[in-house]
Amino acid sequence: MGQTVLVDQAFVQPQEHRPKTVVSDADDIPLIDLSPLSSDSDVTSAPETLLAQVEAACRDWGFFQVINHGVSPELLRKAEAIQREFFALPDEEKRKVRQDEQNALGYYEAEHTKNVRDWKEVFDIIAHEQDEIDVVGLVLKNKWPQVPLGFRETFEEYAKSMEKLAFRLLELIALSLNLPPKKLNIFFEKANSLLRLNYYRPCPNPDLVLGVGRHRDPGALTVLYQDSTGGLDVKRQSDGEWIRVKPISNAFIINVGDTFQVWSNDKYTSAEHRVSVNSEKDRISIPFFLQPGSCINVRPLEELTDEKNPAKYNEYSYGEFIRARKYGNLKKLEVQNIQIDHFKRAQ
Ligand code: OGA
Ligand code: NI
Repeated sequence: MGQTVLVDQAFVQPQEHRPKTVVSDADDIPLIDLSPLSSDSDVTSAPETLLAQVEAACRDWGFFQVINHGVSPELLRKAEAIQREFFALPDEEKRKVRQDEQNALGYYEAEHTKNVRDWKEVFDIIAHEQDEIDVVGLVLKNKWPQVPLGFRETFEEYAKSMEKLAFRLLELIALSLNLPPKKLNIFFEKANSLLRLNYYRPCPNPDLVLGVGRHRDPGALTVLYQDSTGGLDVKRQSDGEWIRVKPISNAFIINVGDTFQVWSNDKYTSAEHRVSVNSEKDRISIPFFLQPGSCINVRPLEELTDEKNPAKYNEYSYGEFIRARKYGNLKKLEVQNIQIDHFKRAQ
């Protein structure tokens, strides 16, 4: 009964984590229209109905899509075209900007999630204002390819527009938690924000592998663009079923990361997600991870805890946390990669 396995064993998921046909598309994550936020106004003018939608989405799903977000469709088209051109280059050309033990930025094709190899290639870039950051002694410096032409300019512009949108969302989410909108901005002064270009080529055994294995994002929030192929699956909290996120042209998918789950003392959810691949079509996606600075300690916010709702997590250093995570993703380890559960207090 076994099917012919055409992929390297390193990519094969354990039986219980294979994508199968569990994905339901009867339901979908919430869709939020940001047009009530006029382009440069303060988010404090956001209507109550919008805040209520944001609150429900962050609480019940940890995921939502946004439309009318202010990022131009032309920029999305341009980024998508250049990204496709880069990943279509011969391997030896892509390897000129490959990540290594000294510098985990640039091209990489051997990332592991939970110790199984992902069916993907990536290109990592740190956000525009800095070309170099220090993650607790690990120096990361952007590597830019010579080809395709316009790669650097396009993704610098793209990262800048993602940063702008991510901060508006950060402020909107802060407001939905009854915090002053700019309350959380200080945690991003020396941010570790990262732009990642993902490329998922068609796979001869799509039911045995995952483009990205099940995981939660470690940062505050993620703003993700996906093309029209589809493949991102989110674990629905109500019943643990995997739900495919429907591609909507020019929309962004927003998800709350572990940092918000800890800040909000579990009010908001960092949802588990994964990427399924298919045998016919390739797929690109571009997540922007809004991540605190390395010297930031993450713990439940005082405003959101009290005697009745005591802090559920011990404080941890964001820099140490992502450093440990990054090391685990570059290689296959014999142990489970570090997770926020590690800092959960016994209740
Ligand atoms: C990620 C991720 C989803 C996608 O890179 O962390 O979850 O659709 N990607 O590519
Ligand atoms: Ni993710």
